[in-house]
Amino acid sequence: MIKTIEWTDEGIRMIDQRKLPTEEVYPIFRSYREVAQAIKDMVVRGAPAIGVAAAMGIALGVRDARARTVDELERELERICQVMETTRPTAVNLFWAIERMKRTFARAKRDGLSMDEIKRRMIEEAQKMYEEDIQTNRRMGQYGAELIPDSATVLTHCNAGTLATAGYGTALGVIRAAVEQHKNVRVLADETRPFLQGARLTAWELMKDGIPVTLISDNMAGYFMRQGKVDCVIVGADRIAANGDVANKIGTYSLAVLAKEHDIPFYVAAPTSTIDLSLASGDEIPIEERSGDEVTRIRDQVIAPEGVEVANPAFDVTPHRYVTAIITERGVARPPYEESLRALVESSERAEPLSAHRASAPHELGDQ
Ligand code: MRU
Repeated sequence: MIKTIEWTDEGIRMIDQRKLPTEEVYPIFRSYREVAQAIKDMVVRGAPAIGVAAAMGIALGVRDARARTVDELERELERICQVMETTRPTAVNLFWAIERMKRTFARAKRDGLSMDEIKRRMIEEAQKMYEEDIQTNRRMGQYGAELIPDSATVLTHCNAGTLATAGYGTALGVIRAAVEQHKNVRVLADETRPFLQGARLTAWELMKDGIPVTLISDNMAGYFMRQGKVDCVIVGADRIAANGDVANKIGTYSLAVLAKEHDIPFYVAAPTSTIDLSLASGDEIPIEERSGDEVTRIRDQVIAPEGVEVANPAFDVTPHRYVTAIITERGVARPPYEESLRALVESSERAEPLSAHRASAPHELGDQ
């Protein structure tokens, strides 16, 4: 099994996703600064994986801090979190994970724990977040698999699989769950320019699992939809606003518009930690702009004239009217999303961690 991220006593071990599929290497990142840089450089990527990596990085930074008192340690935690916050702006899971680690520290301090005990609590919390993410994805898979017909071709974009999470995946988790239910599923994977997450990562991890996958370049999606060869689209998300607008990898919006034109269901699979109720609409979601080199080069190969002007927004926002349903670990949200998403987030805040439960029958919220 692929281990995207792993806590070790020497540091955080992560598969270097920049090197896939040609090299499978697992370097160890030995300080919180190294972990932050790895998030920035996309050694690790995908919203839930970024959250777990940040939590482990924070735990590592706190463990290795030279503070002599709990108050000093708290100030050091603030500095560590500030560094983590500047890594990538769009995936809200990063900020969700940072807040959760800060709350863990505050609770431990309030309980009067010693420095060593606080450090241990922080490591345990990061590891718990790792375990919970896998449970969350499995549960999401159960809900989402219900929406996939028995014999289906599913189009996906970017990589929302094991590599983008602690394990199993969100959009690919739904596909995995459908396959586990013996449904005959084929995947069409968009290559996902410019960083090629679809070609390099999705194709790689699905092939490893023996799930049939056909790689297409991004501009081929409409061709296959028009031929009736796509039964549904499933993508992940980096942030979902209160009204159901979805930020995801650049190119998702075009797919959603195409899907609507061809009457193809467009599903988003994401944990409730990706829902940001503080933002009324997707217009408020910060969109990361990455280096133009990602567009003008493929690895070391230059593919554009030197000095050309380049734009490289890493994400786009799909307005909620294009989204058929949002699959979460707490159930499937349907329009109107203001109500259905709020209900799911509130149920997840009230509930115990998923690892304490067995998955129950799928339920749906919103209009059918
Ligand atoms: O830039 P990336 O590779 O971090 O972007 C990843 C995506 O857009 C994914 O679709 C999203 O994070 C969901 S991953 C479960």
